Amino acid sequence: MLNSFADNISNLKREFQSVVREELSGVKEDVGSLKNELKKVRLQSEEMWFSAPATVTETDKGIFVRSICQDISFPFTLTNTTQRRILGKFRNPPNENAPEKKLQEFFMRQCTALGSLDSTKLMVHDTHSTPLLNTRKPDFVLIPKEWPLDSLNVVAVGEIRKQSGNGFSNADVGHAISFGEKVLQIQPRRSFVYVLLTDCIDICMFKVTKANEAKGQFRFSYGRISLQTLTFNTTNNPPTGWKHLVTIMECTHDDLGWVDPSLNFGTNTVNLVRSINTGRTSVVYEGKDNDNNRVVVKIAKEPIYLSCFKTEKNGLNKLSTKNSPHLQKLLHGSENNLVTTPLCSKVNHLQKKDIGDIIKTLKMVHLYYNRVHMDLRKYNFLRDDDGHIVIIDWGYSVTKDKTGSFAGALEVMPDYILESLIKGEQITYSPRIDLICCVRTFYLMFHKPTNADIKRISFNGAFDTKSKAQKLLNFWSNHVKTNLWKNLYKQAYDLNTKN
Ligand SMILES: Nc1ncnc2c1ncn2[C@@H]1O[C@H](COP(=O)(O)OP(=O)(O)O)[C@@H](O)[C@H]1O
Ligand SMILES: [Mg+2]
Repeated sequence: MLNSFADNISNLKREFQSVVREELSGVKEDVGSLKNELKKVRLQSEEMWFSAPATVTETDKGIFVRSICQDISFPFTLTNTTQRRILGKFRNPPNENAPEKKLQEFFMRQCTALGSLDSTKLMVHDTHSTPLLNTRKPDFVLIPKEWPLDSLNVVAVGEIRKQSGNGFSNADVGHAISFGEKVLQIQPRRSFVYVLLTDCIDICMFKVTKANEAKGQFRFSYGRISLQTLTFNTTNNPPTGWKHLVTIMECTHDDLGWVDPSLNFGTNTVNLVRSINTGRTSVVYEGKDNDNNRVVVKIAKEPIYLSCFKTEKNGLNKLSTKNSPHLQKLLHGSENNLVTTPLCSKVNHLQKKDIGDIIKTLKMVHLYYNRVHMDLRKYNFLRDDDGHIVIIDWGYSVTKDKTGSFAGALEVMPDYILESLIKGEQITYSPRIDLICCVRTFYLMFHKPTNADIKRISFNGAFDTKSKAQKLLNFWSNHVKTNLWKNLYKQAYDLNTKN
């Protein structure tokens, strides 16, 4: 039964293409509209990270920041460096009609000249087209000379924006500040970061500090260093803004709040090497342990997710004993982090063997460990170096057959679960949920348009689950019309009872 189920699923792609080509084009369109819905949701969930509770746009965020920020004086002794060469003086910046690209290039040329001074310790890197802070692209970041360009190494961050008649807009401020907050999220041990905002003529700075937490989410406080002139005028005396920038570049990473991102577990130290990705509840890094082995470090984004970490730690503790190549091994863990192997890569194509392995592993976990995963979206399947598929992210897993509230991969939940959510009912954690989630995830993976589209939905109960569930229910009922997928769904539903 199990094997034929796996076979059926893996033959689907070919059959699907020949049998339902017409439907596919319809699906693509509707997947497009679903994509928009999910994008909206994703934007909202990103906003959760913003410290202003009800902020939606960068403008709102800027207004919020300006309303609570404190004026602070420049916190370092000003540099004595003078600039004899013309490059590095920010002289003759592009005029206000010049495209932003020109401003960016001009800024980078000046900063590269300053970076070549012996006195400066930091380099300015152009990241306006590099998704450095996960998907976010700040215009520039400051990193110690010789250190690789990686989000873990960012010491300070900055944005280049044009000023209007009234200076920088609220949106400019909100935009810049959100990069500072992102740095604090990716560098979890750090408590503050400086954010630079400039138009190549003037420069202002903000100090973003992780302040306290409320309702399980981090809050921030903001300090503002007033706007100063960056560009040299005709005299050779450096203007204050220029001194600020050069002083910052002459600071050490410690001065600017950077903290070595290593974790200690008794006598073991795990060093973070690079950040890999941000998930729903965590930031995930590649690390090295005492013996220089490559490990994976998952750190909670916010205190609200600590319960997921507890669940995942308990789950992995048990699952590690099984020595399955399809499950992670837990090496260390504490309240807000988990250290595991293997280090994997993304899965772009599922092979027939993967499908069988996933289903068999899930059945084993259901049967022997009484756990239901609940979050079997594409992003939670990875591949190790030996080609094994690995099921990760047990943070939302639950005890089999218990009844309780819902958390997990809403977009691939069975219809009957979506219906229960619409009615506001509790749900029973049946193993069939995992199997049906797999069928639906495979469906989404076989339809290439959805690959990059159906992403995680933040699920903290803060949004309207009922209407999301209704949209998804409509999506599935409108698009899975072929007998092939209907049969698979039914098989997944029935497998539950037959094994
Ligand atoms: N072992 C690993 N190897 C490589 N990348 C990983 C590994 N574990 C997690 N990741 C990456 O980090 C992302 C988030 O991890 P995950 O455990 O799913 O956390 P979350 O609960 O935040 O979704 C994954 O989607 C994946 O891209
Ligand atoms: Mg995940």
